[in-house]
Amino acid sequence: MNKIFCADCRDFLGGVPSESVDLVITSPPYFQQREYGGGGIGNEEYIDDYIENIMAIFRQCVRVVKTTGAVVFNIGDKYINGNLILAPYRFALCVQKEQLAKLINEVTWVKINPTPKQDTKKLIPATEPFFIFVKSSDYYFNKDAFLEYKDVLFNGKRKNAGNDVGKKYYELIENSDLSDKQKETARNELQDAINEVKQGKLHSFRMKIKGVHALPYGGQGGGRLLQIETKGFTIIKLYGHSMRRDVIESTVETIKGNIHPAVYPEFIVQELIKLLSKEGDVVLDPFLGSGTTAVAAQRLKRKYIGIEIKREYADYAEERLSKQQKKSRNDMFEI
Ligand SMILES: C[S@@+](CC[C@H](N)C(=O)[O-])C[C@H]1O[C@@H](n2cnc3c(N)ncnc32)[C@H](O)[C@@H]1O
Repeated sequence: MNKIFCADCRDFLGGVPSESVDLVITSPPYFQQREYGGGGIGNEEYIDDYIENIMAIFRQCVRVVKTTGAVVFNIGDKYINGNLILAPYRFALCVQKEQLAKLINEVTWVKINPTPKQDTKKLIPATEPFFIFVKSSDYYFNKDAFLEYKDVLFNGKRKNAGNDVGKKYYELIENSDLSDKQKETARNELQDAINEVKQGKLHSFRMKIKGVHALPYGGQGGGRLLQIETKGFTIIKLYGHSMRRDVIESTVETIKGNIHPAVYPEFIVQELIKLLSKEGDVVLDPFLGSGTTAVAAQRLKRKYIGIEIKREYADYAEERLSKQQKKSRNDMFEI
């Protein structure tokens, strides 16, 4: 635990006990992208051989992960003779054909600063998938923890809600054709909603009043239409949770002094670790590279196991980890 192994993951993974890891997050070498030396994965002549090599590792990852766990693979695409070969999707389809695991999400990394290309007759590729696979329907999934800073922004803003929140509705209620009894209920419920916004329990709300606002139509009607017909109004409450979408925006990583050519963003790995594991859980990366997965896991108080074939990168990953540890110790002393 909490170690980096300089080894070929094809040999090493066989020695990892079944169902001993909570989460695998990794990015294997992309097809015909660069020569890392040693492993040879990614330098196959044919895409089918590449996919088979990746699948061999994936099968091991599924074996070592607990039934409550997940396996996340990030694979980039490639043009061959001007044709996008859809490498990530060939891999994902293979997993599905073998029924090894369920693909629950394809999280798309949107690159804010993609690498410029010379080709004037193609748009610049600026996305990459992170496939989230699970072994059973009993997987750990902390949806609220994913990109939770968006909620904080959302809620923080509302705590300062002014005195005019929802005021316009009082006038609309008074001037409506509702009965006196309906108007009284509407005023009371409106006041409750305003109070909830001021207490920060609710982000905002909309009120729809019979004869004043357009009615919901078609499939949108449902219970709301019934409320408008019986009570004369409905209040649609919007809670402060932003929608958790399968998209994550991040820059292409640049780390001072980095020696690795293909580092993935620590921010994305951090968000996936928060989504798919708890403190104390074990996170494994069989293609550790510069150590990003281990660095994020360590910072988030998870245990890590990293495998990297190239000594130079394994050493660099160790360096990143000990720098982070030293920094957090110093921070502790400052407190
Ligand atoms: C795409 S990079 C991973 C980069 C990593 N996500 C990061 O943020 O630094 C793939 C890494 O896998 C390593 N690798 C290639 N074949 C391997 C093998 N058979 N076993 C272990 N590592 C291997 C390469 O040396 C390279 O560092």
